[in-house]
Amino acid sequence: MEKMSTETKPEYSPGLAGVIAGETAICWVDPNAGLMYRGYDIHDMAQKASFEEVAYLLLNGELPDAKQLAEFRQQLAAERALPGPVMDMLRLLPRGSHPMDMLRTGVSMLGAFDKDLNDHSHDANVRKSIRLIARVSILITDGWRILHGQEPLPEKPDLTQAANFFYKLEGKVPQTWQIRMLDTIFNLYADHEFNASTFTARVVASTLSDIYAAVTAACAALKGPLHGGANEESMKMLEEIGVPERVETWLKKKLANKEKIMGFGHRVYKKGDSRVPAMREIGRELGRRTGREQWIPICEKLEEIMDREKHLCANVDLYAAPVFAMLGFSPELNTPLFAASRVAGWCAHVVEQQDNNRLIRPRSLYVGPQMRPYPGPTRA
Ligand code: COA
Repeated sequence: MEKMSTETKPEYSPGLAGVIAGETAICWVDPNAGLMYRGYDIHDMAQKASFEEVAYLLLNGELPDAKQLAEFRQQLAAERALPGPVMDMLRLLPRGSHPMDMLRTGVSMLGAFDKDLNDHSHDANVRKSIRLIARVSILITDGWRILHGQEPLPEKPDLTQAANFFYKLEGKVPQTWQIRMLDTIFNLYADHEFNASTFTARVVASTLSDIYAAVTAACAALKGPLHGGANEESMKMLEEIGVPERVETWLKKKLANKEKIMGFGHRVYKKGDSRVPAMREIGRELGRRTGREQWIPICEKLEEIMDREKHLCANVDLYAAPVFAMLGFSPELNTPLFAASRVAGWCAHVVEQQDNNRLIRPRSLYVGPQMRPYPGPTRA
């Protein structure tokens, strides 16, 4: 048998676990339960800053002053309207479509309407990022209404991203505490270094394809239940369990069947997800406000048993699920809500990638048959 190659066996890390695939100045995930955006500790900032402030920081590297923030808000509000043909396309999708599929298709189509599409300069990428942050939200909210046979609502440009998300779904301007909560949630979800969807976006951007292509691919990656899709799956799990007393029996059966428990485990965090305490706290407050106090005790019981049986910690998606339910969102909107925030991180990473680009192209370890002779064409 011919020898394949003289190459010595390279180092290999399945799933790229622990591999440093690039540098970033945007976000740092500390495996010991820490998270930082551009040097600012998320624990402090998430509950005080508006999502616009955080999105500006991720995109531009520094916090905005009052004038810059006001301008950024206006730019976002001014870019919300979707082109008519994109609205028409949303109406063509089958009623049973998942909002993540609608979003991915919508983002892809939006690219064709952006005059800056193939300009990858820093300034053009930032301009496109503002449009994407504004329009991803609207694709979700208008798409949702269309899916449910309702007409999209006219824009209210004075509303912030978080307030507008509520308004565009239901037609009611939310209360201040609801807006504050959604701002905090958006801030917690806004970036997470080289997570699967962001890495996908960077791979696409590294070929010098455009930012819409990168965000389309990121939406596709986010949908999967091992990534963003986990926050929808977690809600199904909590509903199946129903009451805290059922957790132990339910969980032991699942673990005995070697099933994955949604909302648990993380590739980087091994001592807890930095975003969980804030999300859990929002869940507790919402439980009191809505009278739906069963969800957080179910999550806590799950945490206790998963720690004891598997030494696995909860991730943010476990608590995001009941939080979104108590805020009045349907579970199918859980992953799109994640996207409405993470789009800021995706865009910041595409800008960073293309400002200092190198093609991302790893190797694979060949495990197929050894070299063998071709026996000649197959005859019918
Ligand atoms: N439920 C049950 N077992 C789990 C688990 C979970 N949620 N997450 C990890 N494990 C197990 C693995 O099966 C593995 O067991 P083994 O050693 O007996 O094979 C062990 O824990 C180590 O996990 P590993 O597969 O190395 O984790 P990973 O880094 O490859 O995967 C996730 C990380 C997030 C994909 C994984 O934890 C998962 O699927 N979680 C559920 C989905 C989820 O909540 N995703 C959102 C992430 S923010």
